[in-house]
Amino acid sequence: MVKILIKKKIKNFNKVINVDGDKSISIRSLLIASQSYGVCKIKNLPKSEDILSTINGLKKLGIKIFFKKKTCFIHGNGLNGFKYKKNIIIDAGNSGTFARLLLGLLVRTPYEVKIIGDRSLSKRDFQRIIDPLNQFGAKFVSSNNKKLPLKILGSNYLRPINYFEKKGSAQCKSSVIFAALNTPGKTIINAKKSRNHTELFLKYLNLPLKVVSKKKIDLIEVFGEKQFKSFEYIVPGDISSSAFFIVLTLLAKNSRLKIKNVNINPSRTGFIKIINKMGAKVKFINKKNICGEQLADICVKSQKNFKPIHCPIELNSNAIDEFLIIFLLASKASGISYFRKLEELNKKESPRLKIVSKILKQMGVKIKADDCSIKIFGNPELTIKKKIFIKNYHKDHRIFMTSVIAALCLGGEWVIEDMESYKSSFPSFINILRKIGYIF
Ligand code: S3P
Repeated sequence: MVKILIKKKIKNFNKVINVDGDKSISIRSLLIASQSYGVCKIKNLPKSEDILSTINGLKKLGIKIFFKKKTCFIHGNGLNGFKYKKNIIIDAGNSGTFARLLLGLLVRTPYEVKIIGDRSLSKRDFQRIIDPLNQFGAKFVSSNNKKLPLKILGSNYLRPINYFEKKGSAQCKSSVIFAALNTPGKTIINAKKSRNHTELFLKYLNLPLKVVSKKKIDLIEVFGEKQFKSFEYIVPGDISSSAFFIVLTLLAKNSRLKIKNVNINPSRTGFIKIINKMGAKVKFINKKNICGEQLADICVKSQKNFKPIHCPIELNSNAIDEFLIIFLLASKASGISYFRKLEELNKKESPRLKIVSKILKQMGVKIKADDCSIKIFGNPELTIKKKIFIKNYHKDHRIFMTSVIAALCLGGEWVIEDMESYKSSFPSFINILRKIGYIF
């Protein structure tokens, strides 16, 4: 197991960077390309482990994919165009998004397809996907209590469904949209608000999908079995990856950072809204629209004072992957911050709320937490002088990267295990730290 040792804080910096392409959008772009007719060209796909799992999985289903320079070429075989064989096993690695969304596209498989994953993914809930896909007519076999490894057997007699997505899970919503694409008739989804990249992508391709946006719910109608042609797409930068560098800059001394071409889809900017409420002054400039998604350059500089926050629960789903790094900022705020209704956080690559609570305590931050909420007693003077050992918490990339940022801003002597984990979502993470001047 590779560990990283960090003994000194980051020095001041003034840089312009690019982060890797967005993980959620990249996985969707590959899966949707596999359903089109013809050769798609996708630019700015990160070579992260989750994306490599997606590419390898699609290749096993007969989809030809290759890279020429920085462009990925995908030969789509149309809707229901996977080449099914007996005994196909697809390894989703660490990627919940790939495994759950792919199952939506497998609802017609005539042979069982087995999906496996790493230790962390094999602990995560798949009941949330099995239930709606069962209603379409797909069947599942699991030897691990409705988790991976899981076998899916599709049907030729699929029926459209009426589905209520209550968790604010974009993975559940998207899996159902993908199943609906392969099903005759109209599928109706009432979904608690969550990231809407799948809907925007299908609209960009002019597919028959209607969205009526209400205050807390989106009403989505998908008309199935409409074939579509191949397309070109450029993946925007990942705001979840940017979040680590935004908080690093805020907490470092006398530093400035511009992050170019980041996706600022409002269903993903809960993090920015939350930290701006805490007094951070993060700005978007050069806004533009590319392939149906909004992008901007993000500008941020170091600041001294942050306010505590009573975090509005309606922002939870739009900031779900950023809470660890938000908690780090809250630990430097001048007062008590309170975050509630975060039970989904314990269902991620690791039980994140539990683990971050342990880490904050280790750092000397006073907290009170239960299964779904946390109070953080912020201290603007917080610095660390002791040794901190962060162990391999289920190989969770975001636990690793949050720990590195804490070490670089707060001091102390840190040993952080499981260095390889960052490659699952953000393979440039360490190189960007080098670019802004940190010498490992
Ligand atoms: C994702 C949705 C979120 C998020 C995950 C990516 C997606 O998960 O945590 O990293 O691409 O749809 P849930 O849908 O389980 O909330």
